[in-house]
Amino acid sequence: MYLTREQERLLRGDYGWAIAKAMELLVRVGDAVGASELVEVKHAHISGVSYSNIGKHGLDLIIDFYKGGGRARVYTTINPGCIDYSGFSRIIDNRYYMEQRAIDNALVNMGFKPVFTCIPYYYRPPLPGEHLAWGESSAVIYANSIYGAYTNREGGPIALASSITGYTYKAGLHILDNRVGRIRVRLDPMVEKYPVGAIGLWIGENIREIPVLTGFKNMGFGDLKVLLASMAASGSHAIAIIEGVTPRKTFSLEIRDEVFIERGDLEDYIGPDVSSRDSVLGYIGCPHLHPFELLRVKNLVVKYGGVKRGGLLITIPPEYLAKFHDIVFYLKSRGVDIATGTCPVVSVFKQRYDVVLTNSGKAAFYLRRIHGLKTRISPLEEVVKYVCGH
Ligand code: F3S
Repeated sequence: MYLTREQERLLRGDYGWAIAKAMELLVRVGDAVGASELVEVKHAHISGVSYSNIGKHGLDLIIDFYKGGGRARVYTTINPGCIDYSGFSRIIDNRYYMEQRAIDNALVNMGFKPVFTCIPYYYRPPLPGEHLAWGESSAVIYANSIYGAYTNREGGPIALASSITGYTYKAGLHILDNRVGRIRVRLDPMVEKYPVGAIGLWIGENIREIPVLTGFKNMGFGDLKVLLASMAASGSHAIAIIEGVTPRKTFSLEIRDEVFIERGDLEDYIGPDVSSRDSVLGYIGCPHLHPFELLRVKNLVVKYGGVKRGGLLITIPPEYLAKFHDIVFYLKSRGVDIATGTCPVVSVFKQRYDVVLTNSGKAAFYLRRIHGLKTRISPLEEVVKYVCGH
């Protein structure tokens, strides 16, 4: 790989152990995937920071980089951890409080912004063509598909290395020629009423190349966020070309096949019916809610009169607690459980439920696989309606 003189000095250790280690990581991975050079990034987003996922070894790695002098060289945000930062949630278990705080303290002392959210674009929306180094699959696919930014789907250590060096390797989706949509995906009009989380899981699992989503542009951004996150969960996708949405000149098209999604395709992804004997947890907020979605949930809770059956958990960035305290206070007064800076996938449940009813394909996918829970995917309004007893 070609390196500039400055990059060679970083690699040689002239600026300390942490930067040299980070450069070595980037160069090795870049060489392995055939990158010819490094590219400067404007924003790094660090995933893989939840103690319940990364454990002691992950904690030690982060502390090593901190103690070795690693500091943010570019704007850097942090993904959710495994604790509810408000401390009020009755559903999320804060048993790893001390360990998570040790991770958070190291990251914050390195100069990373403690947003603890998987929607970093809420804090800094990227520009079309801007190079990023983002971990967190749901954020990566959103950045590439909605904003036309350029980022690969990085693991936590690579995003960390990019933050403290300011570079990533130029390969994959950092190159325009690799952003080519080949399979057109259309929705049967009947399917449009189906939960977008299930549609996303189907696309993720069944389409192997970059999909071109036709007829999706009227979906709201909240639904697109859930759709894309679900695709990324079941199929490792990092970009979808959404006609009428993805900025021009950030992709090209060479369509060689077309598929229709029909109603029958989705049943397996939606999950089994909820029985009246099941204890049900409604869950909304994977990825974390945008403020306009938080307002939508509030309006639905007003409409359906508060939680009366099972529970309803929503997950949001910690900052909303103060910023939208009227909405948060109202929701809590109507029985909604709010967890901030975390989510059930990266944390531990305090209580067991028979079924998690969610609008998110990503949450359903991981709660089934990691936590062994029964899940069912429904549109957002149906989730609220159910737990409100309608
Ligand atoms: Fe975010 Fe957790 Fe879902 S980190 S994307 S809410 S799995």
